[in-house]
Amino acid sequence: MIVKLRRLIDRLRYGREAERKRKRAEKEKRRQQKFHSERWYRDERLARRHYDSYEDYVRHQSAKLERVLHRLKETEAEDFQEFQRRFSLCEPLKPARSVLCLGARLGTEVKALHSLGYFAVGVDLNPGPENPYVLPGDFHALVFADASVDAVYTNAFDHAFEPERVLAEVVRVLRPGGVFVMDQLAGFQEGFIPGEYESFHWKDRAALNELVRHHTGFVLLGERDLGRHRRDRWYQVVFRKPA
Ligand SMILES: C[S@@+](CC[C@H](N)C(=O)[O-])C[C@H]1O[C@@H](n2cnc3c(N)ncnc32)[C@H](O)[C@@H]1O
Repeated sequence: MIVKLRRLIDRLRYGREAERKRKRAEKEKRRQQKFHSERWYRDERLARRHYDSYEDYVRHQSAKLERVLHRLKETEAEDFQEFQRRFSLCEPLKPARSVLCLGARLGTEVKALHSLGYFAVGVDLNPGPENPYVLPGDFHALVFADASVDAVYTNAFDHAFEPERVLAEVVRVLRPGGVFVMDQLAGFQEGFIPGEYESFHWKDRAALNELVRHHTGFVLLGERDLGRHRRDRWYQVVFRKPA
């Protein structure tokens, strides 16, 4: 009752913007509490969500689409433009012709790559029905041949059950000299708190980049701040597989 009254007073006093800010802060607090619960296991560099089994992980990840479908339809045009911007500014991607997108959901990133002239296809545990841009599949076990693509792109690495296995697959399918482009969020000690669906996360981006380098032998070519997209700040990191 008191809380409701306070919200009403706040709203009358400061308007909708204050109300939105307060809601965001409350959501952030709930995220913090969840993240610090027993469902996450941590070492000094990484945190991993507890799943009872691999099947449990697949079920959890696959369930997300239905919850966000409505919002995705509303933001698709804006997301498409953001992907176009990210890809067209990515110099090391320019010589590539074929790009495989991991965790591509409905395929907005794939469509953006097509619009820039690339051959691109996505893989996702749940691409929705009859999706011509994204194949149903698991990025821990790709169906593609060894050394068959020029580039791999992902903004969904934090949804991996076993990041080391995903990286082994990236090494396998990428041709020598190919690039691995990863859009990343900040680490949990840098201000980003994982939400409902991230299955692992990093202390900071340096720890993530070290993980990638250690398990792939790739060279870090460069990174840049992509700025904010909705509520999160994104970074793009490009690695090269030695020729
Ligand atoms: C944050 S969403 C990103 C979606 C998309 N890249 C975009 O930006 O619109 C993460 C996606 O990864 C997918 N995913 C999670 N685990 C996966 C796995 N093991 N193999 C393939 N896709 C997976 C989820 O189904 C989800 O669509």
